[in-house]
Amino acid sequence: MAIREILIEPNRVLRQVSKPVDKVTKDEQSLMDDMLETMYSANGIGLAAIQIGVPKRIIVMDISKNDQKKTPIYFVNPVIKNKNKEFSTYEEGCLSVPNQFAEVDRPATCEIEYLDYYGKHKIIKANGLLATCIQHEMDHLEGILFIDYLSKLKKSIIVKKLSKQKKSSETLVI
Ligand code: NI
Repeated sequence: MAIREILIEPNRVLRQVSKPVDKVTKDEQSLMDDMLETMYSANGIGLAAIQIGVPKRIIVMDISKNDQKKTPIYFVNPVIKNKNKEFSTYEEGCLSVPNQFAEVDRPATCEIEYLDYYGKHKIIKANGLLATCIQHEMDHLEGILFIDYLSKLKKSIIVKKLSKQKKSSETLVI
């Protein structure tokens, strides 16, 4: 397992649409291992493969609390069905949009059909944080970030801040 670099917005790779996985092989499993390790090391609860520059429809998540046992979930080729007409609101953040948070409305419940770590077909019903998190991660597979739901003004303020942070972190002071 290895910790990979997480891409930060603005970055054109993050805007790519990810491609379906033909088959879950050892390559996908080792990618999922790396994704999980990368996510844990960054204190995130979800990560899509595109966030480490791999345009495959793969997501890892773990929404267990810090003091609980780790419970990772692996989603390959996830599809969302039966979205609730009622919405719930969460303050969202994203490992590709560091230190920025905003409230986003999303369907309160949904079903997710996917392949697991072993390529086994599964369907789960999601509500609460799980429902919000999987919808946020699914957006990554379409090249969408949570800041895209904000007003133009709010979004441009966040992107400006991120660009500034990037510049300063790329500048070597010797
Ligand atoms: Ni995200």
